[in-house]
Amino acid sequence: MPDDFPLQSQTGAPGGPDVGPTGWQTPDALMLFGFWYRALPSNQIRRGQLAKAMLLEQPLVIGRGRDQQGQAFALRDACPHRGMPLSCGRFDGQQIECSYHGWRFDAHTGQCQLIPSLVPDQNLKIDRIYAGSYPCEERDDFIWVFIPDPGPAGAGFSKPMPAPIPAPEIPKFSEHYKLAYLTADLPCSVDHGIIGLMDPAHGPFVHQAWWWRTQKSIHEKRKNFEPIPHGFRMSAHTPSSNSAPYKLLRLYADADSITTTIDFVLPNLRSEIIRAGKYWFSSLTTVTPITRNQCRIDVVAAWNLFRWIPFGPELLKFVFAKFVEQDRRTMELQSEGLKHNPHLMLIDDADRPAKWYFQLKAAHLEAKRTGQEMKHPMSGPVTLKWRS
Ligand code: FES
Ligand SMILES: [Fe+2]
Repeated sequence: MPDDFPLQSQTGAPGGPDVGPTGWQTPDALMLFGFWYRALPSNQIRRGQLAKAMLLEQPLVIGRGRDQQGQAFALRDACPHRGMPLSCGRFDGQQIECSYHGWRFDAHTGQCQLIPSLVPDQNLKIDRIYAGSYPCEERDDFIWVFIPDPGPAGAGFSKPMPAPIPAPEIPKFSEHYKLAYLTADLPCSVDHGIIGLMDPAHGPFVHQAWWWRTQKSIHEKRKNFEPIPHGFRMSAHTPSSNSAPYKLLRLYADADSITTTIDFVLPNLRSEIIRAGKYWFSSLTTVTPITRNQCRIDVVAAWNLFRWIPFGPELLKFVFAKFVEQDRRTMELQSEGLKHNPHLMLIDDADRPAKWYFQLKAAHLEAKRTGQEMKHPMSGPVTLKWRS
């Protein structure tokens, strides 16, 4: 029996076995606050420069100091005085000067440093004025920004709080490795972006290529899944035998020693680790909500394979770019269909990971609401079967 998939409707199935408690149906629940998100590739911002970004419908100005470390920062792109975007202002490498009335803010803390219109006997406590400032860290060639829960409507900003946990990082298994990324804008909500990413059944139809697989190669698969904190894992297994990249891997190690593990963790992290003896390939893919109807996929990969093949990284990037482009194009077409609010469904077992995603999201929001520990939707390991 297919399950209803009331992504757009407000009438969920509270406590239902497959959809879980309501919560993710409401527009505000579509984007999860209180997590780290990838904002921009590091190479898009040079020292002393500013760039605009948008995460979870929050306009940001991102930059890096002009000093030795060139540490990145992220501020709300709105002056706390009268809302002028700070990205229009001047940045001297330490402070940002708003282009409207010249208020100056420390780029890393957002604290106000100067209000030029004040005369000496006007003792406004300017150090209590803050532009919104977000925790910001660089990992694996990306700038990550922590987006906290929004404050009460109309409230201003105060001294920024540090993030409760460090930004996510790609697991690496040797000292030397290569790193590359790919990024693509997807014209759909973060939910459709994420379930598209974890959907095993679209492969033979969307990702057809002679070097990958064809519809003729469709066969039944069984994969073991297990719960992990805030997510689930496709347990270590020997990769699909009919795909060319994995055939390539066999040049490095015998087939039995090749394992791959795929994790999904809230809010949007898909990590895949392939190990073949001392060689490894590790990627962290994120689907980041930009607005309610727009997201961006960033695939960042690290590996110590192919280091001796002249065009190894380029080849890998080419293969990944093809995949991402096929997914992007599919979601572009899908968004046409979604415009008219069709009735949707999730089926077993191929869409079970998508169901877990929605259940995890609902469980996370419920735990936040009640202050209790999150109740994981999976009670233990599960084997799923599908044809792809
Ligand atoms: S709006 Fe920024 S200083 Fe007035
Ligand atoms: Fe895909």
